[in-house]
Amino acid sequence: MTIKKNLTDSPKTKPADSDLVFGKYFTDHMFLCEYTEGIGWHDPEITPVADLSLSPAAMVLHYGQAIFEGLKAYRAEDGRILLFRPRDNFARLNLSAARLCIPNIDIDFALGALKELLETEKAWIPGSSGTSLYIRPFVIADEPALGVHISRSYKFIILLSPVGPYYKEGLDPVRICVEDEYVRAVRGGVGFTKAAANYAISLKGQEKAQGLGFTQVLWLDGVERRYVEEVGTMNVFFKIGGEVVTPELSGGILAGITRDSALKLLGKRGIPTAERRVSLDEVIEAGEAGRLEEAFGSGTAAVISPISEFYYAGRTVRVGTGGAGEISKWLYDELTGIQYGRREDTFGWVEALGGS
Ligand code: COI
Repeated sequence: MTIKKNLTDSPKTKPADSDLVFGKYFTDHMFLCEYTEGIGWHDPEITPVADLSLSPAAMVLHYGQAIFEGLKAYRAEDGRILLFRPRDNFARLNLSAARLCIPNIDIDFALGALKELLETEKAWIPGSSGTSLYIRPFVIADEPALGVHISRSYKFIILLSPVGPYYKEGLDPVRICVEDEYVRAVRGGVGFTKAAANYAISLKGQEKAQGLGFTQVLWLDGVERRYVEEVGTMNVFFKIGGEVVTPELSGGILAGITRDSALKLLGKRGIPTAERRVSLDEVIEAGEAGRLEEAFGSGTAAVISPISEFYYAGRTVRVGTGGAGEISKWLYDELTGIQYGRREDTFGWVEALGGS
């Protein structure tokens, strides 16, 4: 499919790198493609970022068929533009699509479209330390209909946003509140997908946690409310007695690409890791016995984010010495080193724009 280009004649003023926060600014152009039942994906175009025209009966507005992804483009010191495991993001978009009855998108087509958009927008990719261009591919159902059924038409859009750190804390540790009332996911549900619904469901817990002065929520499993699942926008890791453990992919948590990269990097360094059920009791006991050496979250937006404490039902569980742990700092440096082209990419994770 040839991508039509409709370029703006009034480009925006770019923000200074020092003004970048997460997700506030958008580049001049986006990628947009339509799906119609019986035709498939059609009419791909790169077009100015502008409001969408949607029927008030568009199915996404009523029944929530919406999925998204998050990845980043990095500007290396030698000027190359690097993507980190982009195929894995589009593969995961298709996993989410399958669960939400949304049509698949060919991964080569999606990646080709993204690269063409990035070629158009590469002047927007910031170069200062800790900044990048966040890439938000998403799909919404836009058939105008009120009967509950699988939509017969969709829009696939890729939006770009130059960003700074997700948390204002940066690499300073965040404080996390364990949610004991609301749940995020149950087995058989959509917890493993990046369905927009997962994030809508999380807002109540986030509001509660932030009201108590915490940065994020730690979710427990939806059945027994005993096992740790994930933090609002991150997967979670604990270093207990020398081993780094993270909740197994139970179907209720997101298969984070940063999570997988962290496990592989730790394995390569010879640090013992385990993916298994982790009960909150185990974390509390380890904390009280002084064996909870580190905890951190991982995610595209959050990168590696050290955690200094967990608050649960009136109790505070302190992690290590309260500062960013040695493993968290090492992982952050190693991962961002690969993403920004400063470290050797032994896993073949990085893809350069233009193949350079
Ligand atoms: C990401 O890390 O890309 C995410 O999807 C988190 C986002 C909801 C801010």
